[in-house]
Amino acid sequence: MDESANKNIIYLDNAATSWPKPEEVYKAVCDAMRFTGNASRSGHRLALEADRLVYQTRKLLATFFRVGDPAQVVFTKNCTEALNVALKGLLKTGDHAITTSMEHNSVLRPLTSLQKRGVEVTIVEADSTGYVAPEKVAEAIKPNTKLIAVIHASNVFGTIMPIEEIGKVAHEHGVLFMVDGAQTAGIVPIDMERCFIDVLCIPGHKGLMGPAGTGALLVKEGVNVDPFIEGGTGSLSESTEQPSFMPDRLESGTQNIPGIAGLRAGLEYINSLSLDTILHHEQELTGMFLDGLQQLHGVTVYGPRDLSRMVGVISISIDGKDPSQVSNILDQEYGIATRPGLQCAPLAHKSVGTFPIGTVRFSVGWFNSKEDIEATLDALKEITRR
Ligand code: ALA
Repeated sequence: MDESANKNIIYLDNAATSWPKPEEVYKAVCDAMRFTGNASRSGHRLALEADRLVYQTRKLLATFFRVGDPAQVVFTKNCTEALNVALKGLLKTGDHAITTSMEHNSVLRPLTSLQKRGVEVTIVEADSTGYVAPEKVAEAIKPNTKLIAVIHASNVFGTIMPIEEIGKVAHEHGVLFMVDGAQTAGIVPIDMERCFIDVLCIPGHKGLMGPAGTGALLVKEGVNVDPFIEGGTGSLSESTEQPSFMPDRLESGTQNIPGIAGLRAGLEYINSLSLDTILHHEQELTGMFLDGLQQLHGVTVYGPRDLSRMVGVISISIDGKDPSQVSNILDQEYGIATRPGLQCAPLAHKSVGTFPIGTVRFSVGWFNSKEDIEATLDALKEITRR
């Protein structure tokens, strides 16, 4: 691929995966491929280097999200895998789970398949801005409720959910609380202790700035998640049974060492900036974009439209134009990358009233600039006039 081809791209698809990555991330991935062996498998120097790298990344994640013991951090290939491991490892026949209409299919689809195995599911409806009130979640609790699963911020409308309040509801009722941090990890602080989160699922390749193929499941000590995948762990090799201790209980097979190395570099990069700086930058760009969109005729903006209630994910429609057509024009004629359609969250669109056509989604990231936003607003102005 020719790097110069991407030079002028305005990348506003950070909700799908962040791009570009910090230089340190590219280097870390490459170095890991050159200088590490397999982790937890042997005592030679390349294997030990892989061990160190994996442990340091676990430790960084444990501190970042306040899960306590780094052994409670399980690496996965993405957030979807983490969500599947958690849902399928926690819910059994006869259990009741509560979720929301704002969830991504990464939660809705596993829950639909679990329903066929006798798990009861209640989907709490969001309001027309995509917000789910904690009281509505509390009202859905039943004697057999085992789990409340909530997305931290909508991947379509950016709406931030009140996870601290929902966590309190779960805690007071003795129900497990799972959070999907796909759109907030690395952007909005997530404190597992303060929010009573039992299971946190995160991608490594979005806000945390690591490479694709990385994610993690963080499990509060004492919460028992049954393994989804079993196999070699490098520990207790004399036994044909899966080890019961974490993280080996949930982590089998060779790890994505280059990916984890890149994720470590992403975490270190974020720590060097501070989360506040990143959030402030993304909010500034989001505010500027929202203000500009208000001036455009024929554009409808969905979601909260309020910086204090959302992350930098903005969904719009343009009168008389199909979202895919708009996204295509933005890409082909202006070099602006967006995501159209339903963004794998059909029920979220139903709640907000944008189903089945969907929206054009713009999602900002750390590497976007005010110039990117200005150019995007200019492009949209031209498109609305056609
Ligand atoms: N879940 C990602 C998105 O919303 C891929 O685009």
